[in-house]
Amino acid sequence: MLYDVAVIGCGRVGLPLALGFADAGLRTLGVDNDTQRLDAVRERRMPFEEPGADAILARAEIDWSSQVSDAAGAQHIVITLGTPSFSHIEIDLSAIRGVLDDLLPHLQDGQSLTLRSTIAPRTTEFVSGYLAKHRGFDVGRQIFVAHAPERIAAGRFFEEIGTLPCIIGGVGERSGEVVGELFGAFGAPIVQTTPVQAELAKIWTNILRYATFALPNLLMMDCEQYDANVFDVIELINRDYPRGGMAQPGFTAGTCLRKDFAFSEERSNAPGMLLAVSRVNESVPLFLVEGLKRRLGSLSGKKVAVLGLAFKADTDDERDSLSHKLIRLLERELADVAIHDPLVETPTLDLDEAVAGADAVVMAANHSVFRDQAVLLSIGERTADGALIADPWDCWGSGQVFGFARELAVLSGTA
Ligand SMILES: NC(=O)c1ccc[n+]([C@@H]2O[C@H](COP(=O)([O-])OP(=O)(O)OC[C@H]3O[C@@H](n4cnc5c(N)ncnc54)[C@H](O)[C@@H]3O)[C@@H](O)[C@H]2O)c1
Repeated sequence: MLYDVAVIGCGRVGLPLALGFADAGLRTLGVDNDTQRLDAVRERRMPFEEPGADAILARAEIDWSSQVSDAAGAQHIVITLGTPSFSHIEIDLSAIRGVLDDLLPHLQDGQSLTLRSTIAPRTTEFVSGYLAKHRGFDVGRQIFVAHAPERIAAGRFFEEIGTLPCIIGGVGERSGEVVGELFGAFGAPIVQTTPVQAELAKIWTNILRYATFALPNLLMMDCEQYDANVFDVIELINRDYPRGGMAQPGFTAGTCLRKDFAFSEERSNAPGMLLAVSRVNESVPLFLVEGLKRRLGSLSGKKVAVLGLAFKADTDDERDSLSHKLIRLLERELADVAIHDPLVETPTLDLDEAVAGADAVVMAANHSVFRDQAVLLSIGERTADGALIADPWDCWGSGQVFGFARELAVLSGTA
């Protein structure tokens, strides 16, 4: 075989994984149909931010291809394609099916196929059945199929790949063992299970996070209704309480959390429960817009600065960010929206320009830089008199979701 491993889909998950395999000494092929992305990596430029990746890309011996069929020249094939959810609350498997069809004529005895993407329960069984149906393979003996879910958050790949237990759900007799040897290259503990348990473990890892953050977000909205302070209530819940605690409110989204719950919801035993979790998190932008209106009156013609386009702290990833939804909602109120985010690729205004004369500022992402005293000072000095700040992340450290800039500056000690 020409390669030890081929990774199909060199995105946020697949590219660091391919680099990791190459760095571990495996003859590696990275496959992607995005030619711009391939041009970048061939020139040894990372197409997105991933700490540690630049150095490995600079030295890695790795081949790239835009042809999925080239992956069939590898002993092990790993699929890291996107798995979105249809609005029907159903996994969209079209990318995976397309790649399977491209691979089918070329697969040979002894090869392994691993699904690293997040998938709905029983998808691994479907893939193995597809290979058996169309090529007659005895999966688990002749050819090996497994689910080895990616549980590392973007931005943490090289920090966690060597330690985070790697779950492997192999089909049939030997798939788990074969794919375990491949991922053993990273040195983290390998945990063998069944395919469906691996699928459930991954999606419920994310459902747990999605629900964990929905609770403080719902509490934040309840507190507004009762004229209570959410940060005070969370402190009352958590202080010296020995049985777990409440997380902090904020925008909860991103490509994974926003859709992975749907892979359970599509055949749920409690239909609607996880949809409600989603609805709570999805309501936060509207809650902030309504909160601004309650305090400032109509937003028509008012300048609103939105700080942060990324979906979470200190990332350049804007995919499925609630900031975009917030901006759309503000524009529907005829507000003049000014945007600043120092990390994302989308061009935005610089901070001073975005906040100058603003009637309101929404701290939409909790980037570390937004907690910087210099940033808070600039907001305090440059916004209009009586400017309102919406700060669900408590970037100001003032313990107020809504507060006037002057008041927050005093509370946070930046005045
Ligand atoms: N991003 C994360 O933090 C994260 C974490 C854990 C798991 N996941 C899961 O991993 C999977 C991949 O997510 P991602 O964020 O890396 O997605 P992504 O969109 O960044 O990457 C997918 C890549 O596949 C390529 N691609 C699409 N169709 C192709 C085809 N037919 N042939 C070749 N390449 C093709 C795209 O160009 C893209 O580069 C998803 O199932 C996701 O849910 C993501």
